[in-house]
Amino acid sequence: MKQHIIIVGATSGIGREVAQHYIDRGWTVGILGRRTDLLEEVAARHANVMYETCDVCDLDQCVGALQRIYERMGGLDIFLQCSGIGRMNPALDSSVEQSTVDTNVRGWTACVCWAWNIFLQQGYGHLAAITSIASLRGLAPAPSYSASKAYQAHYLEALRQRAMAGTRIAVTNIRPGFVDTPLLADTTKFFWVVSVEKAAQQIVRALDKRKSVCTITRRWKWLVLPMLLIPNCLFAKVIGRKK
Ligand SMILES: NC(=O)c1ccc[n+]([C@@H]2O[C@H](COP(=O)([O-])OP(=O)(O)OC[C@H]3O[C@@H](n4cnc5c(N)ncnc54)[C@H](OP(=O)(O)O)[C@@H]3O)[C@@H](O)[C@H]2O)c1
Repeated sequence: MKQHIIIVGATSGIGREVAQHYIDRGWTVGILGRRTDLLEEVAARHANVMYETCDVCDLDQCVGALQRIYERMGGLDIFLQCSGIGRMNPALDSSVEQSTVDTNVRGWTACVCWAWNIFLQQGYGHLAAITSIASLRGLAPAPSYSASKAYQAHYLEALRQRAMAGTRIAVTNIRPGFVDTPLLADTTKFFWVVSVEKAAQQIVRALDKRKSVCTITRRWKWLVLPMLLIPNCLFAKVIGRKK
């Protein structure tokens, strides 16, 4: 049976790599992002790829693009929300904080709501999003990024509760640690950085299993509980020093 996936934020990094897995499997793959040249390049090489340019911060344009690609694809099995921005912001520059909220909260919500409603209409579907291990705690060097990821994680949990009330919709929260993509400007500043290939493989496996929450990679799983339990004063001492 022909299957369909839409990935928002598929021009680079994790979204681009996960898209390649589904392209290779022969699925119909709908890719979106702002950089039309990169979308065109992928679509030119693969007959099973369709694309629409979209800026998630332009809510009407974005929902229009999603609706168009959905109608052209003729169905949707998985919706993967990958788009996101994140920067260290030691100076607490307000413009950085605002654009993070616009992309990771306002735009993200518009896409996820659209997908949820499509799945409700269809009576089935799988909604997934890449949040982050940063969703677990507020992080001093990147307040808006960590807060936006916590928002996303809670939002997915809320949708999962709705899904469990008698629908055939699955909801997956994928939370990576550090992945070597353009989002991490300088990978030497981070630890346990994994390749985008490895992260994408694990993401696809988690989607196949329709997992509720998946931490990428395994070693980060061991940090989840300590991160949640470590007292505020201790956490602030460790994380507050980072710039
Ligand atoms: N890399 C990591 O260590 C890491 C760790 C945890 C979570 N994550 C999350 O993983 C997701 C993917 O990030 P990545 O690491 O793969 O970084 P990336 O290579 O920079 O990819 C980000 C993607 O989001 C898209 N995007 C950004 N702003 C957009 C907008 N306004 N409208 C539409 N698309 C937009 C970009 O496409 P255009 O620029 O073409 O629009 C790009 O395709 C993000 O949500 C990020 O927070 C990453």
